[in-house]
Amino acid sequence: MRVHVLGSGGREHAMGWAFKKCGFEVHFYPGNAGTKRDGVNHPYKGLDALKDLSEDDLILPGSEEFLVEGVANLKKNVFGPVREAARLESSKVFAKEFMKKYGIRTPRFEIARNPDELREKLKRFSPPYVIKADGLARGKGVLIVSGEEEALEKGSKLINGQLIEGVKGPVVVDEYLTGEELSAIAVVNGRKFSIFPFVRDYKRLMDGDRGPNTGGMGSWGPVNIAESLLGKIEELFDRTLWGVEMEGLTYKGFLYLGLMIHDGEPFILEYNVRSGDPETEVIVAMNPAGFVETVLSAFRGEMKKLEPKCYAVDVVLASQGYPDTPLKGKEISLPEDGLIFFAGVEERNGRFVTAGGRVLHCMGTGATKEEARKRAYELAEAVQFEGKIFRRDIAS
Ligand code: AMP
Ligand code: GLY
Repeated sequence: MRVHVLGSGGREHAMGWAFKKCGFEVHFYPGNAGTKRDGVNHPYKGLDALKDLSEDDLILPGSEEFLVEGVANLKKNVFGPVREAARLESSKVFAKEFMKKYGIRTPRFEIARNPDELREKLKRFSPPYVIKADGLARGKGVLIVSGEEEALEKGSKLINGQLIEGVKGPVVVDEYLTGEELSAIAVVNGRKFSIFPFVRDYKRLMDGDRGPNTGGMGSWGPVNIAESLLGKIEELFDRTLWGVEMEGLTYKGFLYLGLMIHDGEPFILEYNVRSGDPETEVIVAMNPAGFVETVLSAFRGEMKKLEPKCYAVDVVLASQGYPDTPLKGKEISLPEDGLIFFAGVEERNGRFVTAGGRVLHCMGTGATKEEARKRAYELAEAVQFEGKIFRRDIAS
C-alpha cells in the first residue's frame, strides 16, 4: 500500500513523515521542499489526475479544498468525506441549519441573505456582533465588531462580495459567546469515531493572544480535560454523525469540532472536515506509529484510540508581514538535528528559501511539557532566515 498525501503545508508533511517512518512509500501532491525528504513530490494537476491511482493505495487529503472539490466522490480509497458531507465546512449556513435540525449545541444564530435582512436580524443580537461568511474564506470569513452600524456596513459588504476577494453571498449572524476555545479532532468511519488527544492551538499572531488571527502560530499537547467535559464532547460527535446518517450521507475521515466552552458546556463554533494545522503536527509527534495505526484502523472501520507517548510542542516560524504580506525568497539555514516540519519553503538552486507565511514548524518532544517546550524553542532559535518571527509564549 502506498500513501498519497494531498496538500503542501506542515500538516501534510507531518502526516507523510509518520507514514514514511512506519515503512510506507509516500507521495505528495504537490508537497513542499521538505516533503521531498520523506517521499516523492508530484505537481498537483487537479483531481482528474488522481483517477488512476491504485484502489489499494490510501489517499490522505490534508486541506479541505480537495474534499470540497469531491476527491472522495471520485475515489473510494480516500480517508475523507464526500463533497456533500464536506459542506459541514464549506457552508456555514448548511452547518448551522444542520446543528439546529439535529439539536446540536451551537450559538443562537440568524441567516441574512441581503443587507435589509441583515439590518433586521442584527436587532435580535447585542454587541459584540459576530458575522460569518457562508463559504470558505481562507480563515478571514469571521467578523467580530462592537457597533451595530459597523456590523451592518461590513456585513453588507461581505454579502455583496466587496469585503473579501472571491467571497460573496449569505452570512450567519451568531450570538457572541465568551469562554475558552478548544479543538476536538477525531477519526471517523460511519457512526464510529475515536477522538485524538486534545491539542491547544494559538491562533493570534503575537504573544498574549494579541494581533490578527492567523492559521496558527503554535500548539502543544496533550491537554487534559475533565471527564465530564469529554463526555459532552463525545455526545457532540455522536449527534453529528447521527445527523450525517439521517441526511443520507456517510462520513469517513477526520472531523474537527471548533468548540467554545461556555459555562462548562461545549458549543460548536465550526466544523472542519479535515485535521487541524498546527494540531496535526503535535498529534503526530506525540506518537507517530500510533497516528498511522489509528488512521489505518479508522479507514477500515476498526476504531483504535491514539495514546500519546510524550508531550509535544510546535513553535511556528513565520515570515515578517504574515498573515497579510509575508516576506518571501529569503534563504533559510537549518540546524543539523531536530524535527522540523516544512510549510512555506521552496528549494532554489539547492538552497531552501522562504515561500509563504508559515515557514517551518519546530517540534519538541519530552516527558514533560517543559522539556518539550525547551527543545522546540532551542530549534526555533537555531533556524535562521531574514524576517523570522515567532511567538515566545507557546506552551508557557
Ligand atoms: P470559526 O471560523 O467559526 O471557528 O470562527 C473563528 C474564530 O472566531 C473562532 O475561533 C472564535 O475565536 C471566534 N468566534 C466565532 N464564532 C464566535 C462566537 N459565536 N462567539 C465568540 N467568538 C466566536
Ligand atoms: N488550527 C486551526 C485549523 O486547522 O483550522
